[in-house]
Amino acid sequence: MGVRNTPSSFGLVSRTIHWAMAAAILGMLPFGLWLEGQKIGLSNLWLYGLHKSIGMTLLALVLVRIVWHRISPPPHQLTQSIASWQIRAARWAHWALYLLMVLVPLSGWIGSAATGIDVTVWGLTLPSVWPQTEGWDKGGFAAHSILTKLLLAVVLLHFAGALHRAFVHRDRTLTRMIRG
Ligand code: HEM
Ligand code: HEM
Repeated sequence: MGVRNTPSSFGLVSRTIHWAMAAAILGMLPFGLWLEGQKIGLSNLWLYGLHKSIGMTLLALVLVRIVWHRISPPPHQLTQSIASWQIRAARWAHWALYLLMVLVPLSGWIGSAATGIDVTVWGLTLPSVWPQTEGWDKGGFAAHSILTKLLLAVVLLHFAGALHRAFVHRDRTLTRMIRG
């Protein structure tokens, strides 16, 4: 089982990052929505800290993923001949997912920094990305809210596409992301 990607298959590194990030994001979406409905206080402050730590780890992971895909490009060969609109749709969805995987945590970080409270990641205090500014906290969180909804929408499309390939076309698209 190769670590690197080949022209026709995903290696261990890409597959591990894909599924670890997918699981974490699918957990973070309901976790964030739940947090949004809470009244912040001393007893639940640690849950906000946990959300921020996982979110910042995801930001680091997506950067590692982008760098890794420059070093070891993901497969470009198709598993079978696929209608060109479906290829374009999948490419757009992957681009949108990358963009949102960067912008979602970044907007959360900006919103949090603008409140003036330190952002700590697993106990480590990060430098502020944004000065404490009134309005920017609301703006940052408003953007965070919209971007997370967009992320959910594209993930659902992506999920539908993966199931379509696996159960309608019965090709190796899903298998090569699971087993390589
Ligand atoms: C991929 C990573 C992340 C995902 C999927 C995610 C998801 C979410 C979601 C769905 C919400 C609810 C938004 C709403 O409906 O208004 C939320 C809220 C929140 N997120 Fe994130 N988040 C991520 C990263 C981060 C990061 C990195 C930070 C800060 C450093 C952060 C800070 C917050 C805070 C403080 C709230 C609560 C906002 C409020 O109570 O108004 N998030 N998140
Ligand atoms: C938050 C959830 C998810 C995100 C952000 C995500 C993101 C991505 C991205 C960016 C790619 C492009 C290849 C890469 O750069 O790694 C990809 C590929 C893929 N994903 Fe996901 N994914 C998610 C969840 C899922 C789920 C739930 C499934 C299926 C059940 C799935 C199945 C696949 C498959 C089969 C590929 C390979 C497509 C190909 O060969 O062209 N993904 N995913």
